[in-house]
Amino acid sequence: MKIIAELWGEKIDLAIGEINGICEGEKIKCRIIKVDYPVAIIETDNYTPLKRAGLLRRISKQIYSGKNIPNLGIKLEDYAIRVRKNKNWKEGEIIRALANGVEGKVNLENPKNIIRVYAGKNLHIGMELYDFSEQSFESRRAKNLPISYPITMHPRLARAMINLAKVKSGARILDPFCGTGSILIEGAIIGMKMYGSDIDERMLKASQTNLRSFGIDAILEKKDVGEIEGSYDAIVTDPPYGRSSSSMGEEIYKLYDRAFKKFSEVTSKVVIALPDEKAIKIGEKYFELEEAYPYRVHKSLTRYFSYFRI
Ligand SMILES: C[S@@+](CC[C@H](N)C(=O)[O-])C[C@H]1O[C@@H](n2cnc3c(N)ncnc32)[C@H](O)[C@@H]1O
Repeated sequence: MKIIAELWGEKIDLAIGEINGICEGEKIKCRIIKVDYPVAIIETDNYTPLKRAGLLRRISKQIYSGKNIPNLGIKLEDYAIRVRKNKNWKEGEIIRALANGVEGKVNLENPKNIIRVYAGKNLHIGMELYDFSEQSFESRRAKNLPISYPITMHPRLARAMINLAKVKSGARILDPFCGTGSILIEGAIIGMKMYGSDIDERMLKASQTNLRSFGIDAILEKKDVGEIEGSYDAIVTDPPYGRSSSSMGEEIYKLYDRAFKKFSEVTSKVVIALPDEKAIKIGEKYFELEEAYPYRVHKSLTRYFSYFRI
């Protein structure tokens, strides 16, 4: 079947990388047929694993993609038509025209069927299958956590980082710079076995408090990154950049070199947010760089979400 995946945010390449990461990790066939912002059209027999995504808003079953407003010619018990705002289309006109082709009762309060409409270069229409608002990302944003710091990562990005690692649900994942725990929380929610460590006692306390507030469990230890041991399906992490998050006085590239060397002893896959190309080059001393997605945080900080493999 063809599905319409509504993207969250405007980082299209990162969102597509995440979708591919989930499909590869869960070993399901999915083919991205087209990206026409704000949606991607995907062919797959099994969309359920995509509910793991961080950078999606909704998934719908495609019923039309094309230039014109179609006559849908469908019969539904009850329904609502919801149009994503777009300055090139008049919402009311689309709804009226589409409603002519739908037989059934309009129910705006609690509809059994939601017809979703998106306008990119083409018009895309689908029957909603899943709404990511169920996942309450908002409740895990820094401002809503019991303990947060300016370094706390957005939960949707933390989730996307986990998915970029191309691992199956249940995988063992370590975040050795866990900070306030956003990567640990998002990984645990989608069924990963999460391990976290950090050099700073305050951060471990923050992680522990935040995890507990969602009833989530992870194994936490106070450790310098040079002391990590064991074996993991992946490391997913957000190290200090030498800005607001402290590197304990250590020169940042020296810390990255130490970290990557250690990572190569405990895993074959690393997803990491890095501040620049010099940092990526350090990773390439120990791993092959397979993907890198620049993500502009603000004028003077771009993070490169990078996926390395041995
Ligand atoms: C950018 S923050 C992580 C933020 C985290 N993703 C969050 O959402 O809160 C980097 C973390 O690395 C930790 N850190 C700095 N140097 C370290 C080292 N040598 N070993 C382990 N952790 C270290 C800091 O204490 C900080 O919590």
